[in-house]
Amino acid sequence: MENKFVDSHAHLDDERFNEDREELINSLYENGIETVLNPGADLNTSKAAVELADKYSFIYAAVGCHPHDSKFMNDETMNIFRELAKNKKVIGIGEIGLDYYYDNSDRDTQRIWFREQIRLAKELDIPYIVHDRDAHEDVFKIMKEEHYSGTRGILHCYSSSVEMAREFVKLGFYISLGGPVTFKKAKTPKLVAKEIPLDRLLIETDCPYLTPEPFRGKRNEPKYVKYVAEEIAAIKEVSIDVIAEKTSENFRKLFCL
Ligand code: NI
Repeated sequence: MENKFVDSHAHLDDERFNEDREELINSLYENGIETVLNPGADLNTSKAAVELADKYSFIYAAVGCHPHDSKFMNDETMNIFRELAKNKKVIGIGEIGLDYYYDNSDRDTQRIWFREQIRLAKELDIPYIVHDRDAHEDVFKIMKEEHYSGTRGILHCYSSSVEMAREFVKLGFYISLGGPVTFKKAKTPKLVAKEIPLDRLLIETDCPYLTPEPFRGKRNEPKYVKYVAEEIAAIKEVSIDVIAEKTSENFRKLFCL
């Protein structure tokens, strides 16, 4: 039987899919993809994510503001996210977090709105999806401070250490690996794939970005998630079927689908 994968993080609303979005989405199933989670990154992309989720049964949405754009956040935008999240196909808040690599918004502002959006996930009792670039310590600190009994979610395109991954797992989170795990020089993601138990791992593309080998440099698409799965299967010395099954099961469990 052919493998079916869940792509736990894809931006199908991205303009790089404008030319062939519908065709691409309609061919996902035959290309081995059973479910896609499409997070937003600001108000417009969150609305676009909800529209896609409304249109296609196998696409789910998350809504939220990426740290790049947290400087545009205010109480009014928070209320719009709150309203959008009432849609049945919206299953999480994201992507939210901190990005100290680009620093597109100042760090205090990033931290304020990361915290506020975690509180929104708590209020709605849904998981949240975390973007962390070069901000591991502050991300962990805020998540720990905002920890509550139902805390759960995803560390998307995980790039920090194995030790930190273990701490996030203790907090109730899943570790999602993407294209970088296939890159030859990416030692840490490979180590994370090895050390973190399969029942806490998810796979993703983050398309159109972060295309795995052997297509690195081209536009990424959900169907390439199988190369991520293949790499993890090789590292864990299990079959790709096991990776497909377990990561799909993890996804359904996390979002109660
Ligand atoms: Ni993303």
